[in-house]
Amino acid sequence: MRLAVNIDHIATIREARKTDEPDPVAAAVICELAGAQGITVHLRGDRRHIQDRDVELLRRTVTTHLNIEMAGTTEMVRIAQTVKPDQVTLVPERKDEVTTEGGLDVVLHSGNVEKVVGQLLDARIDVSIFVDPDLEQIRHCHKLRAPKIEINTGKFADAWKSGKSGNWPAELEKIATAARAAKKLGIVVLAGHGLTYRNIDAIATVPEIEELNIGHSIISRAALVGLDAAVREMAALMRAPRRLPTVR
Ligand code: PXP
Repeated sequence: MRLAVNIDHIATIREARKTDEPDPVAAAVICELAGAQGITVHLRGDRRHIQDRDVELLRRTVTTHLNIEMAGTTEMVRIAQTVKPDQVTLVPERKDEVTTEGGLDVVLHSGNVEKVVGQLLDARIDVSIFVDPDLEQIRHCHKLRAPKIEINTGKFADAWKSGKSGNWPAELEKIATAARAAKKLGIVVLAGHGLTYRNIDAIATVPEIEELNIGHSIISRAALVGLDAAVREMAALMRAPRRLPTVR
């Protein structure tokens, strides 16, 4: 099972100050050196975190696999055709949502999804569709000739968080059933959303899932495990300031 790290939150921190750090490009390199087999970013219509500049630079630096999540709009398709990521994941997008709230309804948006899948495949970009673990949706992805799907694990993650009151085994079973059905149809199965260091073991047992997309939990952990070193580095510089560069 491959791990693709979603680095949107690195850009979220940068955009909190509208400055130049931390840079998602540097984050991508660190993730790859640590063993990630892919880098994922979501270029949102409102550009709240990842910017056009990021996807252009990531295309030039990511050596593993670059996946751009996007809505199937004319603007996004044009960007994908220019940047040429290894893969585009089609997601639904609502302006006031905090994060992607559910899978794309490919039955409802059949016409547009079919058109966009065709345009991306024609540009030699692999296509994945973010869908709920719902058999009707998965069969429709097959009809629309999507080579890959990413099964939304959000409901499973919510059920896990609710502890005993949440029926996470039932949600896990839905994911496993959906993954089996998709694989039988010849669709490559990926999954993601809401996965954490606590709930990962359950999802990692589903054999049909080839890749997981994980963002929030990894970046959250990075902020905490990296804090000790970051404070020590600043304190050391304050104790022994370096010589100032000469200003001409
Ligand atoms: N997959 C998709 C389609 C997403 O939109 C996101 C969140 O950007 C993820 C996976 C990663 O979810 P999380 O940040 O909860 O790990």
